[in-house]
Amino acid sequence: MEIDPWASKGIQNYGEICKKFGLDAIEHTKLPNPTHLHRRGIIFAHRDLDNVLQARKKGRSFGVLSGLMPSGQIHLGHKMVIDQAKWFQDLGGDVTITVADLEAHATRGLSLEKCREYAIEEYISNYAGMGLDPDKTSIYFQSERPIVQKLGFTLGKKTNLSEMEAIYGFSGETNLAHIQSPLVQAGDIVHPQLDEYGGLRPIVVPVGIDQDPHIRLTRGMVSKTNWFNVNQNKSGSITIGLSIQDNNQEMMGLKRGGGIDKNQRQKIINKAIAAIGKAGFSQTNANAKHGTIEIKDATYEVHNEIKYHLLNLERQMGGMGLMQPASTYHQFAIGMTGGKMSSSQPETTMFLNDSMKDIEKKIKSSFSGGQATVEEHRSKGGNPDVDVAYQYLRYFFEEDDNELEKIREEYVSGDLLTGEIKSICVEKAITWMKNHHELKDQNQHLVKEFLK
Ligand code: TRP
Repeated sequence: MEIDPWASKGIQNYGEICKKFGLDAIEHTKLPNPTHLHRRGIIFAHRDLDNVLQARKKGRSFGVLSGLMPSGQIHLGHKMVIDQAKWFQDLGGDVTITVADLEAHATRGLSLEKCREYAIEEYISNYAGMGLDPDKTSIYFQSERPIVQKLGFTLGKKTNLSEMEAIYGFSGETNLAHIQSPLVQAGDIVHPQLDEYGGLRPIVVPVGIDQDPHIRLTRGMVSKTNWFNVNQNKSGSITIGLSIQDNNQEMMGLKRGGGIDKNQRQKIINKAIAAIGKAGFSQTNANAKHGTIEIKDATYEVHNEIKYHLLNLERQMGGMGLMQPASTYHQFAIGMTGGKMSSSQPETTMFLNDSMKDIEKKIKSSFSGGQATVEEHRSKGGNPDVDVAYQYLRYFFEEDDNELEKIREEYVSGDLLTGEIKSICVEKAITWMKNHHELKDQNQHLVKEFLK
């Protein structure tokens, strides 16, 4: 099983993916102000979300990073990602959005000029209607932010062709720009924690599950740059291990010709112990020779706090001091014809620039979970799990849980007919879309501010 972020085949079994790639389930009852997407299990999994929520609780900064591919037409799925970014923004995060023009150039063959035009007219002008706070939102182009390319290059030292092949299925024919694009994306994801873009802090990336390969790659490369590893012991305590790398050998007390410089090693250990003290832990047991420090009064639940102070120390010592990005994952709405949603087949997707007439037509001819005849439907009821009208109410157009549940019950019992649930969906979708178009028109001045 493999996920291809450039040609997602549609996901069959979300549970299996969580297990295979080590994603954690989201418990929406533990989230502040969960949205309908959280409450309904549509945003269903995460990596390291606790790190973000803990930073927020402590009143520390955190950031959200998202990206758009400037090709195709903007649709409801894209809006869902921005809604998540806004949710994090309302919780106190600032939002950075990358226009993946280099990626689109590499993988879709578009010129950078075309990408720019596309990004603004199709995507960013729609974002203007989505409630993002312009003072806490910044949108940039990959091609115009050299630091993300440079970071991608630096991080690239921590991976190799075999790993790229294993993650993405690249082969000998893959063009090199394509191979480079996930590295640039890693640069996108990591850069909001650089000192000049907000400093050391958690960055969360809300994505569809198809983008997880990028997250995995980035997290792997980032952790390999870290000078201090934080490991969990069987007994429950934590052990810090020095990670000796090309660029820190002397600092870590390794002599040029081999062997350990005891003074230097002890200095580093003392600094690390001081950093651990800042995190609130003092029962340390250091082994200078092995370069390890056991923290006996710490359990793994507090590893984020310890990590934070050690990364700070790493930065003071001249390292990059990068935190692994956090991520959240959402499931995909089914396509309107019942199969996969695909931008290249307009009948499967609702675009944000669709007219009211398009919307009505698409919903009226959408795939239905109803029965073949009215009599049969009255006796057996409909199946909401595969019913597009129901699913689009659930994902997009009905925020009220009670109202949605009522519709579901009536549909399952057969009281609500296929034509009727479609009419409800049409009405709510049109109200929703008119509102979006209005907000979009009112707020076009934000486009310039986002890009500042
Ligand atoms: N690869 C993403 C897409 O296909 C776009 C993207 C680029 C992105 N950089 C990103 C998404 C960083 C999230 C985070 O849509």
